[in-house]
Amino acid sequence: MAVAFPDRPRSTAPRAWPLDRRRVVLRRLADGTVVAIGHLGPGDGPRIRAGFERLSPTSRYRRFFTPIPRLSEPMLARLTAIDGWRHVAIGAETVPAFGGHPIEAGVARFHRLDGRADAAEVAVTVVDELQRRGLGRILLEEIASAARERGIRSLVANVLPENEPMLRLIRRIDPDAVAHLEDGLYVYEISLVRGVRLWTPRRAA
Ligand SMILES: CC(C)(COP(=O)(O)OP(=O)(O)OC[C@H]1O[C@@H](n2cnc3c(N)ncnc32)[C@H](O)[C@@H]1OP(=O)(O)O)[C@@H](O)C(=O)NCCC(=O)NCCS
Repeated sequence: MAVAFPDRPRSTAPRAWPLDRRRVVLRRLADGTVVAIGHLGPGDGPRIRAGFERLSPTSRYRRFFTPIPRLSEPMLARLTAIDGWRHVAIGAETVPAFGGHPIEAGVARFHRLDGRADAAEVAVTVVDELQRRGLGRILLEEIASAARERGIRSLVANVLPENEPMLRLIRRIDPDAVAHLEDGLYVYEISLVRGVRLWTPRRAA
């Protein structure tokens, strides 16, 4: 007699991905700064705003492609509409060695693209004072791992042609990534199945 198995959730089912707020990874940056990295949720608006406030006009422009003096409420609402499936965000904050206040150090996020079940748009931001220490790469690797776990096969990144740090970051993680020019932006497609160079995180307890 055939045994009937109960329906198992498919690996791609949204309900299989509640936001896991307890999973935190500690990483040491090139200059010794320790950062705690974990998933962000809808309640993290104050953290996202604090990180945005630390961005220079150039970084804001490179991230949003327009000068943004302040983060409006509708923008913040979009950035915090995180559901752990269609929209996933991973944030980093510093862990001060001798007390003191943590700094919102950076965030990487993906939004699934309409009409493409296995692709998502990705963005990474590191506050200016902590750039060039390897955090961008760590965050991109973390969000790529999270995307791959959720069945995403390609990350699409829109990058200004003069954004050398982001272009280098993409080449590091996927040297074969291809781009086309669209509305003055490079549109890169980063493959998550082509042997992308992902670091395997050690999860903190
Ligand atoms: C892009 C960004 C996230 C990189 O973050 P980061 O923490 O500085 O990146 P890393 O330290 O991991 O360095 C990544 C690569 O960029 C290079 N890089 C970083 N800053 C650079 C700079 N100012 N000039 C040239 N190269 C730079 C690094 O040398 C490294 O390349 P390598 O591995 O070949 O040596 C950061 O510059 C940023 O937040 N910029 C503003 C927002 C933005 O542009 N986001 C991307 C939109 S999708």
